[in-house]
Amino acid sequence: MGNNLTWFDGFVTRADRECLRGHKAFVLWFTGLSASGKSTIAHHTEKLLHLKGLATYVFDGDNVRHGLCSDLGFSDADRKENIRRIGEMIKLFVDANVITLTSFISPFKEDRDRIRALFPEGEFLEVYVSCPVDVCAARDKKGLYAKARAGLIENFTGISSPYEPPENAEIVVHSNLDGPMDAAKKIMAYLEASGRLSALAGEMLREMPGR
Ligand code: ADX
Repeated sequence: MGNNLTWFDGFVTRADRECLRGHKAFVLWFTGLSASGKSTIAHHTEKLLHLKGLATYVFDGDNVRHGLCSDLGFSDADRKENIRRIGEMIKLFVDANVITLTSFISPFKEDRDRIRALFPEGEFLEVYVSCPVDVCAARDKKGLYAKARAGLIENFTGISSPYEPPENAEIVVHSNLDGPMDAAKKIMAYLEASGRLSALAGEMLREMPGR
């Protein structure tokens, strides 16, 4: 693999795209148990970013498993491959200057850290959606926890397969305490406070040659 291949950079650079759009891109990587609220919070956050005029896209575990990763199951090896593919895809999206939000259980710290390593410091932000497993099970509309507890689904995260919580997530939200919009606002507050939103356009203009 990789033989006789050359990366072609293109004539329009990432910096050109940032200038055109007036903002930089980064990743918000949501991780947490099934039914913890990752996708709902990611979509609320996306809406708030979109309303600010920023380019965004959400990658959702269930959706991606219908297409790109439809050949994968839930063994440790398949989850690892699932996360690896997502990592490569979001790298391209960030290069395309899209603020990329992902919603995958991504239960293994090693797999998440491997994705983090694909990005420069500060471009990959882990959002841990913390929620007790019993609360997730109680709100699970798909009934997967009940099936897993009955032994009808194997390797189910939190029941028969482990979840390794992040130790140093940039952002932690507690979805058993905060509603999805409150959690999204907390994430926006972090992005504002760390200068990722408001200062972008001004910073870009200062960096433009000839100014
Ligand atoms: S991950 O572990 O590889 O990151 P991913 O986020 O893509 O998982 O998919 C999780 C979704 O698949 C869950 O929200 C649930 O709807 C469904 N699912 C089906 N089987 C399992 C399982 N064994 N463990 C966890 N989720 C499962």
